Amino acid sequence: MKIENSIQGVRAALNQARKAGKSIAFVPTMGNLHSGHIALVLNAKRRADFVVSSVFVNPTQFGVNEDFASYPRTLDSDANLLAEAGCDILFAPNAEEMYPDGRQQATTVQVAGITEFLCGASRPGHFTGVATVVTKLLNIIQPDMALFGEKDYQQLAVIRRLVTELCIPTNIIAIPTHRADDGLALSSRNGYLSSDERAKAPLIYQTLTQLQSAILSGQRDYASLAHAASSHLNKCGFQTDYVEIRAANLDSATESDSDLVILVAAYLGKTRLIDNLAFSLA
Ligand code: PAF
Repeated sequence: MKIENSIQGVRAALNQARKAGKSIAFVPTMGNLHSGHIALVLNAKRRADFVVSSVFVNPTQFGVNEDFASYPRTLDSDANLLAEAGCDILFAPNAEEMYPDGRQQATTVQVAGITEFLCGASRPGHFTGVATVVTKLLNIIQPDMALFGEKDYQQLAVIRRLVTELCIPTNIIAIPTHRADDGLALSSRNGYLSSDERAKAPLIYQTLTQLQSAILSGQRDYASLAHAASSHLNKCGFQTDYVEIRAANLDSATESDSDLVILVAAYLGKTRLIDNLAFSLA
């Protein structure tokens, strides 16, 4: 596996693959890779001739009081895992390479509407940071397809929207969330949890599956169901940011919607965890 730190270097390496007629799949990450990321790479390998992954802890998607400084940076072990999984190129730029004008970069990508609730409400600017860096990465790599995990459900919706509306010719592929045996969605942030917190964390997924069962058994008062679930999580030591039941496209859910998603964001101590469960009533 080649490691490229510069835009010019990764573009030159990709040109060779393109000239050889290879299809290119891209797996963008912020590193500290776990088996969920590796599943994306393995999936990408089944779909394309050539796989590129990026590791870049994107400063613009972190709020001022968030964990940018402490976000785990484990590039050597990430590179080993990617090489073992058969990744062809790792693009690992530094912040100057991605943002030569630093915080003065004048151009940002803002996706209105869909970014204004759920995580967008509690993390102002987060999705503009994500949309901007993903647009830059897609412009640098110009892949045929890019793979993202469904754990970041709203992020995925934002990326699909920007790719469609900015006419970026990359096919966006969603891959189901990887979970630990006890149901906890894999996340680089799980490493922040103390052992007590880690023992409690699977309650988020249990809550999602209980809400799903209640809905499948006919309950339709989504606001009350979500409120009760949020209170239960808070009694059990979480501080919920939101528990919401929405239509699969993230509009408010009505009784006539048959494709639904339940979304949770909750703090356990200082760690913010998110998860979701999408399902169909039909
Ligand atoms: O999901 C992530 O790891 C990040 O938000 C992404 C898509 C790599 C952009 O920095």
